[in-house]
Amino acid sequence: MATQEETFKKIVAHCKEYGFVFPSSEIYDGLAAVYDYGQNGVELKNNIKRYWWDSMTLLHQNIVGIDAAIFMHPTTWKASGHVDAFNDPLIDNRDSKKRYRADVLIEEQIAKYEDKIQKEVDKAKKRFGDSFDEQMFRQTNPRVLEHQQKRDALHERYSAAMNANDLDELKQIILDEEIVCPISGTRNWTDVRQFNLMFQTEMGSTADGAMKIYLRPETAQGIFVNFLNVQKTGRMKIPFGIAQIGKAFRNEIVARQFVFRMREFEQMEMQFFVRPGEELKWFEHWKAFRLKWHKALGLGDDKYRYHDHEKLAHYANAATDIEFQMPFGFKEVEGIHSRTNFDLSQHAKYSGKKIEYFDPELNQSYTPFVIETSIGVDRMFLSVMCGSYREEQLEGGDVRVVLGLPPVLAPVKACVMPLVKKDGLPEKAREILNSLKFDFKVQYDEKDSIGKRYRRQDAIGTPFCITVDHDTLNDGCVTLRYRDTMAQDRVKIEDLHEIIRRAVDPKELYRKIVGDRLEDTEE
Ligand code: GAP
Repeated sequence: MATQEETFKKIVAHCKEYGFVFPSSEIYDGLAAVYDYGQNGVELKNNIKRYWWDSMTLLHQNIVGIDAAIFMHPTTWKASGHVDAFNDPLIDNRDSKKRYRADVLIEEQIAKYEDKIQKEVDKAKKRFGDSFDEQMFRQTNPRVLEHQQKRDALHERYSAAMNANDLDELKQIILDEEIVCPISGTRNWTDVRQFNLMFQTEMGSTADGAMKIYLRPETAQGIFVNFLNVQKTGRMKIPFGIAQIGKAFRNEIVARQFVFRMREFEQMEMQFFVRPGEELKWFEHWKAFRLKWHKALGLGDDKYRYHDHEKLAHYANAATDIEFQMPFGFKEVEGIHSRTNFDLSQHAKYSGKKIEYFDPELNQSYTPFVIETSIGVDRMFLSVMCGSYREEQLEGGDVRVVLGLPPVLAPVKACVMPLVKKDGLPEKAREILNSLKFDFKVQYDEKDSIGKRYRRQDAIGTPFCITVDHDTLNDGCVTLRYRDTMAQDRVKIEDLHEIIRRAVDPKELYRKIVGDRLEDTEE
């Protein structure tokens, strides 16, 4: 059995080998934490974005989209708090010269205690079998209790230090916990200091006339500064939402785990504007909706969990993450935040403009409160890849590598293959491809044995292979081969379109989320 680490390495290698993700500017040895999406990656990514976008703007009459510029007036970032507070605490190891996030080092230490507890539990489970009472074991086993006590004490001390922004205490925790640099193995640490994550550049041609501007670290602010534009021109009534998909940039100190933490990435964010006092009701609504959106893909309900925030940003009154079980543990894929009226109020203050909504039902004006759903496209992509990649042991000792992608997200929906390259089979296969190509992304493949061709499609997650043989010319039927079961059916050519449509139609997923209701956010 491959370890989780080995599995992750295989997924990364698979992404490259099959045209999903390449290191950026690879011929120059790449650029750290920046990646390019290849021919299959971009299709999968676009399908993810389409699934998200439509789930917002088609399912909800009161959610509209925008596409704001990446460059924004620099005061935006003063108002949002990013200039002063979008920092990570960093620490260097003097021997390896490597730089780390102090909070990440400590969180990894907390995770180590949790792993130790889990190992004890797993060992006991094996030993006691069906009669094992996990809850009792966790409450009474001395070794578990010892690890738990250390974990809780560390967690409490860490939370207090983070809340107080106490950098000296963060360093002291690292020293007291005897955390070593994974490269040098030493505890020769510098002090912890703050590091702003925004990339800066200059706009304008002359040195004195140039203005310092930032590459946006989140797309959300483009929505806030357009609140009045959209509300007025769209005659939007509260509650309503504005959705956006776009690039964001962060000069991450610890850039690791492939596309999980990148310096240039893409976000899908939706800000939902509500009446003050109603925000926690809507927070719960969006928390549930977003989890359903994830689970509808069918990667396994047990792969998701919420992580409610204990440490809230000063402007938030509730926040949770949706985490996915990656090979390197449960990790945040999406954040859902109740941001109060902080952002709109700050922009009103810094711009000097009144940013309010007149509520005709209440006959009063107010600054709306906001629920934000914010998901990284690349993290979503990674969760889908990790949740879909599998190696199957076949009879005869062969291993089949399959991407069991949700068909709605698969880059290629079907591949049409003539059994042989002669006797009119290629022509028939192309005729079938032409009948499907306007509705689905379909490939044609005539090279190598049919078995090899099936494997190539399995590896990129194509749900259907359509084989044209000599009988096809007489009976108008083809062999339809299903990716997941490898089962084969003989079906009529004219039925292909409907079979593929049913499997890849996002409507089925939307039904799982909202049932037969079209709008679920209008009052
Ligand atoms: N507007 C809120 C916001 O930006 P966040 O938790 O910092 O909140 C939201 O980011 C999501 O963006 C995360 O859940 C993650 O999916 C994605 N994300 C954040 N930083 C990222 C990075 N460096 N690389 C890839 N995705 C990232």
